[in-house]
Amino acid sequence: MVQVTFIEADGTRREIAAKEGEPLMIAARNIGVRGIVAECGGSAMCATCHCYVISVAEGALPAPLGDEADTIEFNAHNPQDNSRLTCQITVTPALEGAVFQVATGR
Ligand code: FES
Repeated sequence: MVQVTFIEADGTRREIAAKEGEPLMIAARNIGVRGIVAECGGSAMCATCHCYVISVAEGALPAPLGDEADTIEFNAHNPQDNSRLTCQITVTPALEGAVFQVATGR
């Protein structure tokens, strides 16, 4: 398991143990991280799994590409340089200790 932290809109920190190989969105949904809605089920279309990367090991998380980058640009509320769709992030050991802020406002 890989330990990852989500910060919800009210500042609540949710530390989760994510299973290697699963989408980070699934790990967040499994423990009910507030704000991770995932309306499209992980198809990189809805942006309701949008988070900001607050802290991650260098090189552990490349920039979004393709559909993810397009959805962030056109569908995400208040996209930033550190925006990611958690459904497009596969949990790997390199994410150990990573911190994500749940994006809000959609
Ligand atoms: S679940 Fe819809 S974009 Fe991630």
